[in-house]
Amino acid sequence: MANSKVKVALVTGISKGIGKAIATQLVDDGYMVYGTYNTGEAEAKDLKSNLKKLEIFQVDLSQRSNTLQFVDELHGIEFDAIVNNAGIYQQEKFDDFDLSAWDRTFEVNLTAPLVLSLKLKDRIKDGGTILNIASTDGLTGSFNSMAYAASKAALISITKSLANLLGPRAIRVVGIAPGWISNTGMNTDASFEAGELTSLGRNGAPEEIAQLASFLISDKACFITGTTVIADGGYTCVDYIMKKEARSQQEA
Ligand SMILES: NC(=O)c1ccc[n+]([C@@H]2O[C@H](COP(=O)([O-])OP(=O)(O)OC[C@H]3O[C@@H](n4cnc5c(N)ncnc54)[C@H](OP(=O)(O)O)[C@@H]3O)[C@@H](O)[C@H]2O)c1
Repeated sequence: MANSKVKVALVTGISKGIGKAIATQLVDDGYMVYGTYNTGEAEAKDLKSNLKKLEIFQVDLSQRSNTLQFVDELHGIEFDAIVNNAGIYQQEKFDDFDLSAWDRTFEVNLTAPLVLSLKLKDRIKDGGTILNIASTDGLTGSFNSMAYAASKAALISITKSLANLLGPRAIRVVGIAPGWISNTGMNTDASFEAGELTSLGRNGAPEEIAQLASFLISDKACFITGTTVIADGGYTCVDYIMKKEARSQQEA
């Protein structure tokens, strides 16, 4: 278990949505949080004004040089937890596929978490945790967001590999695959319909993902590594046709 009394976490993408909820939860748990934002300066500053133990940094994780420069700025800090949360979701046109968007999506969603893990691994305390925020989209095929789904599938994969590589230092590497979460920058009109196809009958809240993050990086989860926990209210348990068949049977 991590050996310093003051727990320190890095959380990327704290300006809104799930990252904001995770930063808030971790400060509440007693962590000093180093959080990043990219374009959401006002939101990040607003959050900082509410959370005394939050330091904020502007970093564009789509630019490798920016990510590496950020690592340098963290010089001298040792971490109990690194939460790779920042992510982008860009819709694609199959007939006019934008490979630059593919590259950007992979840089932010996959390569930046890997770079931060590699460059900061010697500054994660033995017994610490890396938490990667993936997505249930990484478990299925997509229609107009292949880059997003593939980047999340690969994030789930490197979570397993990093767990193997860092296990000897008792560093756990875990993931969360959220289902449809409301109150985030990733919501679309369609995403609000997801509740209808979810066992619990609703979308999730960022705070519900933050509570799981809090557990997974805590010593209570000390035998959990390499795995990505699905937090989707049961969305991946529901087969639309089976649900429709059951409804027609009830109505007959
Ligand atoms: N919302 C969902 O339903 C859902 C479901 C499954 C998984 N997820 C995953 O959950 C994580 C958080 O997403 P969210 O839903 O909270 O989305 P969000 O509200 O759009 O927040 C995304 C965060 O990532 C940051 N970010 C985006 N591009 C960046 C870049 N180039 N460099 C640095 N930071 C960047 C944003 O910073 P700025 O705003 O400051 O630019 C923001 O803080 C993502 O990894 C996402 O894939 C979300």
